[in-house]
Amino acid sequence: MIQQIERHFERDARPLYAHLVSLLESAIARGELPSGSRLPPERELASRLRISRTTVVSAYRELESKGLLRGYVGRGTFVCAAPEPSGTPFAWRGKIASAALRSNDPTMRDAIRHSSDARMLSLAAGEPALDRFPTDAFQRAIDQVLKKDANATWRHGPTEGQPALREAIAERFRVPADSVLIIAGAQQGLDLLARCLIDPGDAVIIDRPGYLGAIQSFRAAGAKLIGWDVLRADVDELEDLLVRYRPKLIYTNPTFQNPTGITMPIRMRRELLKLAERYRVPIVEDGTYGELYFNEAPPPSLHELDVQNLVIHLNSFSKVLAPGLRLGWLCATPSIVDQIAMIKQRLDPHTQNLVQFAMARLIKDGSFDTHLRMLRGEHARRCGQMLTAIQKHVSPGGLRFARPQGGLYLWCRLMRGVNARTVLQHALAQGLAFVPGDAFYADPAGESELRLCFSSVLPSAIEEAVKKLASSLQGTRTRAELVAIA
Ligand SMILES: Cc1ncc(COP(=O)(O)O)c(C=O)c1O
Repeated sequence: MIQQIERHFERDARPLYAHLVSLLESAIARGELPSGSRLPPERELASRLRISRTTVVSAYRELESKGLLRGYVGRGTFVCAAPEPSGTPFAWRGKIASAALRSNDPTMRDAIRHSSDARMLSLAAGEPALDRFPTDAFQRAIDQVLKKDANATWRHGPTEGQPALREAIAERFRVPADSVLIIAGAQQGLDLLARCLIDPGDAVIIDRPGYLGAIQSFRAAGAKLIGWDVLRADVDELEDLLVRYRPKLIYTNPTFQNPTGITMPIRMRRELLKLAERYRVPIVEDGTYGELYFNEAPPPSLHELDVQNLVIHLNSFSKVLAPGLRLGWLCATPSIVDQIAMIKQRLDPHTQNLVQFAMARLIKDGSFDTHLRMLRGEHARRCGQMLTAIQKHVSPGGLRFARPQGGLYLWCRLMRGVNARTVLQHALAQGLAFVPGDAFYADPAGESELRLCFSSVLPSAIEEAVKKLASSLQGTRTRAELVAIA
């Protein structure tokens, strides 16, 4: 590329430095000098172009101030962004830290946006039946908090969380209260754990396919992600990965997994713990869906089975009450709780008090368990309705899936060659959202898979959502067939 600049450079009559800026800028815009590429040192480029070094320095500085280049002492000058398409004079993108650019997948943000868009039927974001939220019990709890704990509510609270909630969780899950840390949702827990445990370049074994928020947090921390196939669930394969990559940790969501909905059997849980112990690798267990079974309770969590203190358990009220509460917790050995609290205080000094106090009351007075029992039945019903609607409206073989036993999701395989992102384009045009499968892989895969959340839409809207999906699938197939014939 630099040779082309040499050729063009000779033929132009503009001021030298402006000419060099414009040549470099268009090479960056066309992708011929992609983000991350290193430019020749100033002295070298000056001698190749037979101009003064000051001219090259001025051109590099101008491109730096536009945010397109970045110079590092001792390492050189690198392209860091393409020009802003809007043509704004200051390119902020060039100023973004490389750690932030490591994980820029907007899928989660899109799913959340669609779920709050009244014009959209969303099977995308993972939400429980929010229309069944226990509003009266919550209202009563808030009233009591404001009557009795107002002072503590409006002050700063402890970074580890309000003792009342830590104790209520500890009692419910039979763990010591000092092993519980309150967080603003499990996603914050994942990010805190990534910051706490991962150095750039560390390997992390992660469910494949797996929760996209975990992929993003570990990736942003610089982890090398190694997928372990959750559907094959082969212990020998896992051991091979442990030997080959010496990972820093294993992340898994073993119960009603996001996105596949499957649950790791007890035998596999024991094998996993044995391997983790043998290879001295901690496990981050994401237990977000653990209590959302339809009929039969799942096996004990990895944290319950762990006798070596190597499991950190993450959990949340998002899927059992409401994601808008932004409330979760993690359970780990107190030294890890302490270390994570040190990191949390920097980005979120403590989780907000009002919902913590209210939640402690809901757990203590039994309203939370009553709600959970209702929710299990409601989700099972909605799941059944979705399966019936699929049978009625989707042509045979159009969607293949295993019948869920809990959780919130139906993980579907499309017919070979049908691309989920193309189906999504058709669906969005009709006001339906879902998450395409590739978002759940850390490697390029999943293009013919998709995830549907069966709990988030009202029962009266499930059939309509499935009809829209069926017509999007049909539209995509017809187009694919026409292209094949042409
Ligand atoms: C497996 C898993 N972990 C964590 C989260 C994040 O949940 P929260 O809303 O508590 O941050 C989700 C949300 O979809 C999830 O599916």
